[in-house]
This record gives sequence, C-alpha cells and structure tokens, in this order.
Amino acid sequence: MAELGVNVDHIATLRQARLPKGGRARPGDVYPDPVEAARTALSAGAVSIVMHLREDRRHIQDQDLFALRRRVRGRINMEMSIAPSVVRTALRLRPDQVTLVPERRQERTTEGGLDLTRKTAVLRRLISDCRRRRIEVSLFIDPTPLQVRWARRLGAHAIELHTGDYANARTAQGRRRELARLRSATRLGLGLGLAVHAGHGLDYVNVGPVAAIPGMGELNIGYSIVARSLKTGLRAAVTDMRALIRRASRA
Ligand code: PXP
Repeated sequence: MAELGVNVDHIATLRQARLPKGGRARPGDVYPDPVEAARTALSAGAVSIVMHLREDRRHIQDQDLFALRRRVRGRINMEMSIAPSVVRTALRLRPDQVTLVPERRQERTTEGGLDLTRKTAVLRRLISDCRRRRIEVSLFIDPTPLQVRWARRLGAHAIELHTGDYANARTAQGRRRELARLRSATRLGLGLGLAVHAGHGLDYVNVGPVAAIPGMGELNIGYSIVARSLKTGLRAAVTDMRALIRRASRA
C-alpha cells in the first residue's frame, strides 16, 4: 500500500519571511517551526518527513535537519543536490534516506528529474558514500525507461518518479498518457529491484490514480498539504491526504 511522506519546506519558507536580517534568531522567537510541523505530520500518519536543504538555504536550514533528528522520532528523507556543502551536511546527519534532485538557483521549486546519464562518476561515488553510512539513496527522475535503468546501474536503492507532467496535464488524454508512463516506469523499477516513490504537484484531486499504481511506495507531498492546512489545520490536512492515498491503493 502506498504511504505518505510530508515535505515541510513551505513551513520553513513562511518562517524565513520574518527572520531578522543578519541576526540569529533564538529558538521560539520565530515561527512556524518545521520540526513541530513534522511532529504533527508523523502523528497524523505520515511515514516520513522530507526536508530539502537547498544550496542557497532559502527555506530549510542545516539546523532544522539536526533538530528534526534530535526532537522527533521518524524517518528523515533529506532532499538535496550534489552541491558539496549540502553533501557534507548529509554525511554528518546520516538521514534515513537522501533523495537526489537537480537544483537550479533561479527555479521556484524542483523543475525536472535528474539526468542520470550525466555526472555518473560523481553520482556513483556519492551513492556509495551514502550506502557505506547506511543512508538509502533515492533518485528523482522523469518516468523514462532510460533513467530507471541508469538508477539501477548507479546503485540506488530507490527512484522517485517526477509526477509534474502528470499534475500539469490539462486534458484527460494527457493525464492518461502521463499516468501510463508512471505505471510502466514503476513496473520497470520494481522489476529491477528498486523501491519506487513518486511526487511533485500531487494534490487532493490528482493523487488517487498515482496512489493506485501497483507497487507504489511513498508519495512525497508538500505544497498542497501545507496550503490546505491554512483552512483545516495541518493534522487534518495530513489525515485527509493519507486517507485518499489509502483508499486509492486499496481499490
Ligand atoms: N518530491 C520532490 C523530489 C520534490 O522536489 C518536491 C518539491 O520540493 C516534492 C516531492 C513535493 O512537491 P509538492 O510540494 O509539489 O507536493
């Protein structure tokens, strides 16, 4: 059955909007706290917490990840690029999992999957450094057979399929086509022994068909949950999303 990983980056985005410039905030002075949000999400049924430590530190800060580890019992999925400063933090933190993503400074959010046919030596080395520290590695990729096969070749544990094209499809036919790509990439990944996750742009309307894909692992969702929490509170927003995922993956 598919499970839910909650991305709390947007909680940190809100906090950063009021952080004193240049000064260091004392704990408790600034809110909302992404670690508190993580605690709520886990107690509402999320199986993991995603924090994306971007190279520019625009939302999540290094200390958020360490506070998460210290204060909350739960699986940590650290999303990151291969930027050296971020990799150093990951290797010190030893999260349960890292999800490698491409990162561009100008983008508002992750825009595409990794191209695993490039920088293969760097990726292979990083994956093996993580494995040695018992950190699982998931690679965020577009749902193509080429990328799935490369994920296996590079020694990853898992793939996260980019659902952005599915979420952005404007016609029923487009959605069906994207869903078919997700389904066949999932089948291929599972056949190669990879765990298969998915995420990006999933919301309360479009999550069902992705959750229903046989063998789907975790769905990593942030924006729609945090946006809904403004109306319902975070606990209900997570509970509702988890219920949708469960219902769809049981059907
Ligand atoms: N998975 C990955 C790899 C991402 O980069 C993001 C966005 O940070 C998500 C999942 C969550 O996407 P959304 O915020 O659109 O739910």
